[in-house]
Amino acid sequence: MLKELNKTSFLKEIDFSKAEFETLIDLAAELKFKEKHQIPHRYLNGKHIALLFEKQSTRTRSAFTVAATKMGASVSYLGKDDLQLGKKESVEDTAIVLGSMFDGIAFRGFEQKTVEDLAKYSNVPVWNGLTNEWHPTQMLADFLTIKEYFGTYEGKTVTFIGDGRNNVANSLLVTSAILGVDVHIVAPKELQPDLEIQSLAHSLSEDSRSEVLITDNIQEGVYGSDVIYTDVWCSMGEEDQLDTRFNILRDYQVNQNLMNLTGKNDTLFLHCLPAIHDLNTEMGALCFEKFGVTCMEVTDDVFRADYSRVFEQAANRMHTIKALLATTCGNLY
Ligand code: CP
Ligand code: NVA
Repeated sequence: MLKELNKTSFLKEIDFSKAEFETLIDLAAELKFKEKHQIPHRYLNGKHIALLFEKQSTRTRSAFTVAATKMGASVSYLGKDDLQLGKKESVEDTAIVLGSMFDGIAFRGFEQKTVEDLAKYSNVPVWNGLTNEWHPTQMLADFLTIKEYFGTYEGKTVTFIGDGRNNVANSLLVTSAILGVDVHIVAPKELQPDLEIQSLAHSLSEDSRSEVLITDNIQEGVYGSDVIYTDVWCSMGEEDQLDTRFNILRDYQVNQNLMNLTGKNDTLFLHCLPAIHDLNTEMGALCFEKFGVTCMEVTDDVFRADYSRVFEQAANRMHTIKALLATTCGNLY
């Protein structure tokens, strides 16, 4: 099975088949086991990885850094203010230079075209650590977490509620459709996925025989869900839309009443993080000052509930990124 995966880069989900996704998720579980039992897995000995980040990150940056280092590679972080990228040097020229020195490039930023161009011109593996459109490495961790919780993701219904047109919602929609998992996007009409992404998901789900439901009706969208997933209401770069988003999304908050609408007693809660679930952040304090609320997309009790696995999900970012690096850049075979 592993030998079937001969892709080099990981730019967006639709470049990957169900079998390829599953190869990565299963390998991640194996590497997690190896780490726990201190079984050596230095598949990246002698490699040097660049982390080219235009946006902030806690989990993705740490996951790439620790995964690569534990497998024997060294890592260089190149923040947006450290490089000439886009200011005095094109993406093409930057890609050629980085590709001549590094063995792989992780990119986080705004435009999907940037990560695609890095892959096109660098001649080394490139991994998308989030763009405005997609967050594919997040998906590997999410489906590993679902599999660990239920033993499988087959036959499950995954529901994203909130800003249904952001990178995480797009990725969850398309990945579920590839994997044959039923997926619901519950969002107000103006925050539903672009029609192009909806039609992509519909056509993938026809092939995988899964269900896609995109609705603004909370009761209909949440009923029967095995997983409730949400994300911040303002993604990075959209903070100036806070007032509008609060007004149109306040009814879509994940709280215990909403969890009860699933009609199931073992529904899992997931969130890619960071989350605005209390007042211990500047954003949380601002929301309290502006709207008088103590949380935004998820209440603190749901965030901390037994059925919430957000920190396991975050930890799985490292194990899944290990699998990705080992497969596309390491000496695994
Ligand atoms: N979930 C996620 O991508 O987190 P960071 O923004 O901290 O990397
Ligand atoms: N949608 C969020 C995800 C953060 C991991 C953002 O883009 O800011």
